[in-house]
Amino acid sequence: MKQYTFFKGIHLKFIVILLLVIILAIQVFGAYFNRALESHLVNNFTRMLDQQAHLLAYSIQHELDKPYNEEEGLGAYEHIQFLIDKMFAAIPHAEIQVLDRNGVVISTNSDNRSIIGQRNTQIEVKRALLGTRDEAIRLHPKTGHRMKIMSIPIKVNQEVVGAVYLMASLEETYQSIAEINSLLVKGTLIALCLTAVIGVALARTISAPIKEMTKQTQAMAAGDFSKQVKVYSEDEIGQLAQGINHLSQRLSQALGEIEEEKNKLASILFYMSDGLIATDRKGRIILLNQQAEMMLNKQAKEVLGQKLSDVLDFPDEVQQDTLLFREGRFQVDIGADGQPLILEITVSPLHLDGEGQGLIAVLQDVTEREQLERDRKAFVANVSHELRTPLTTMKSYVETLISGAMDDPAVAKRFLQVIANETERMIRLVNKLLQLSKLDSKRFKLRLKKLDLHALIQETIQRFSFQLQERELTVKLDIEADLPPIEADKDMLTQVLDNILSNAIKYSLAGGQIKVTARQEGDQLKLVIEDEGVGIPKQELKHIFKRFYRVDKARSRDKGGVGLGLSITREMILAHQGSIEIDSDVGEGTAVTIRLPLQLSAREGAS
Ligand SMILES: Nc1ncnc2c1ncn2[C@@H]1O[C@H](COP(=O)(O)OP(=O)(O)OP(=O)(O)O)[C@@H](O)[C@H]1O
Ligand SMILES: [Mg+2]
Repeated sequence: MKQYTFFKGIHLKFIVILLLVIILAIQVFGAYFNRALESHLVNNFTRMLDQQAHLLAYSIQHELDKPYNEEEGLGAYEHIQFLIDKMFAAIPHAEIQVLDRNGVVISTNSDNRSIIGQRNTQIEVKRALLGTRDEAIRLHPKTGHRMKIMSIPIKVNQEVVGAVYLMASLEETYQSIAEINSLLVKGTLIALCLTAVIGVALARTISAPIKEMTKQTQAMAAGDFSKQVKVYSEDEIGQLAQGINHLSQRLSQALGEIEEEKNKLASILFYMSDGLIATDRKGRIILLNQQAEMMLNKQAKEVLGQKLSDVLDFPDEVQQDTLLFREGRFQVDIGADGQPLILEITVSPLHLDGEGQGLIAVLQDVTEREQLERDRKAFVANVSHELRTPLTTMKSYVETLISGAMDDPAVAKRFLQVIANETERMIRLVNKLLQLSKLDSKRFKLRLKKLDLHALIQETIQRFSFQLQERELTVKLDIEADLPPIEADKDMLTQVLDNILSNAIKYSLAGGQIKVTARQEGDQLKLVIEDEGVGIPKQELKHIFKRFYRVDKARSRDKGGVGLGLSITREMILAHQGSIEIDSDVGEGTAVTIRLPLQLSAREGAS
């Protein structure tokens, strides 16, 4: 937080402004007052002089009107001199001259009486003698004082008979003005000092709450809404303080709500099963949830800021669309190492405040769904293919028979045998399909019985004795004595044994051996059927339980296989809560290990 200093604060600014205003006001007032005072005093003085001059003129006009008496000379005007000495001597610092119609001084109050009899040739006098009153202000040549000069004509019957000339110092008037001015300056200084003191006090009352409010807003900016500003008054500052308190409350409330919304959103994003990615208007990732991280197998920090299209490797046409921020749905496969990972991505525009439009992408892992769909399609294709092959064979044989082969009984018999075999094959296929469908739909019911596995194995071998002999195969039995009975569905278990043994026989080389081992392992029975046949390549093992999967299609078909035996076997073993594993390699023979519980757990047993 910045330290509050006197020189930076509004404190000083307030006082300076206050002082400037006071100085300006006094300046304006002083200038106006000065001028008004000066003109008032000078006018008063002039008026007083004017009155005196007129009074004198009036008093002496008849004296001057008398015809000039040579004998008496200027002595005739003694009365005038008397009047001036007695009555007009009171005019302060004024020199009075009475002039005759020629401008000759006939009387004066000046100590310098020598001017009597001399002519006054001043311009004001000349103008007065011409009948016009005149006045002027001039500097005294000796003292330098400002002098008011006034001359008025003395008229008798409209005829100028003389003039009164007055010259009075204005210095006293200006002295008074100067004194008043100095008073004004002193008053100004006192007013300024008082203003400064009051200003400091006043500024404090304003700045103290402002300081407090500043602190509070800074605390608010730092996220602390716990404190309230003290409201000192009802004025604007008080209202501002109330406003800040209100704002603080609202802000804290709003931030709380935002936080709550954020948490809600975060938990929604966290717990949603779909991945979610949001981008800015340039398509750069700005948010992704944990699911998206898991789907992409990347950490948020690795992909934040990267282009969505780069991270998800969009197809070209999608790239175009997403650049335009259109809605859309498409799939991408971002799987690695041959493992598919199909994501269905739904993009829609996202409106970002002030930043235009972004993009929101919802990611769904549809690998399983797609895989199922692919499997379904492949299954249908396989079924169709498996059915069409015997049908085409049968059709061609039937046609050949119709077109004449029937007439040759030997050929006809051979052909009909082929047709019977193909029909047999089709029936086997359809039966297997029905069985699978039943196992898939879980509609079947296990008819559980205590079975003697040893006997069951022997029965099965018995059934295959013809094929075994045909292929010169020997079977070696290694069955634990006292093998406990196993709880199972007899038909199913028989079929499991049939399938495994038939494979072992089919894919064994002539003269080979098949070994059947049965042991008890805890509460399970372990059955292993091993052969020394062609084996299965290791990399194919993971596909071996897929429907219609055959390692060598041609060979398997020759042997009448359609690739459903192991799928059915596995489903049946799973129905018995057991497991099946196949271990093999090319030329190494094959070992099929089956584990079955001696007794099924209650839930499954009831199904
Ligand atoms: N013991 C084995 N030795 C070698 N290959 C085997 C063995 N058992 C199974 N296979 C291979 O696995 C494939 C799948 O076996 P599966 O029993 O499901 O089908 P199939 O025997 O071909 O036909 P089906 O059993 O439906 O008549 C076979 O085609 C074969 O290539
Ligand atoms: Mg088989």
